[in-house]
Amino acid sequence: MNYSRPIQMLVDEHAVINSVLDALEAAVARIGRPDALPPSFFEQAADFFAGFADRCHHAKEETHLFPRLEARGIPRDGGPVGCMLSEHEAGRAHIRALRAAAQRVRQGGQRRADEPASGSAGVR
Ligand SMILES: [Fe+2]
Repeated sequence: MNYSRPIQMLVDEHAVINSVLDALEAAVARIGRPDALPPSFFEQAADFFAGFADRCHHAKEETHLFPRLEARGIPRDGGPVGCMLSEHEAGRAHIRALRAAAQRVRQGGQRRADEPASGSAGVR
């Protein structure tokens, strides 16, 4: 599909984000195994999601794309824009939970790294 340059940039950024999500998923599968990755991997993943996915990519969508969609009649409340904004908020909760889990592992806490932090239960 041919997109405008700005939209193609967002699509390309999705591919980068998805590749890091795949790496994170593979790392989570290794938790508790001899080949488990160190907490620094998860901290760096959290840094990537906070810095690139949220502050760069989501900011572009929220600042430039979503207002244009709304201007073209796509509703914010109850529509796809509101859904995406909700997903962005859920992503921020995931970043906080990921960072907290990595910190617990680094500090030798008793909770498992894949156990949700309090307050993030039910957020996917
Ligand atoms: Fe996006």
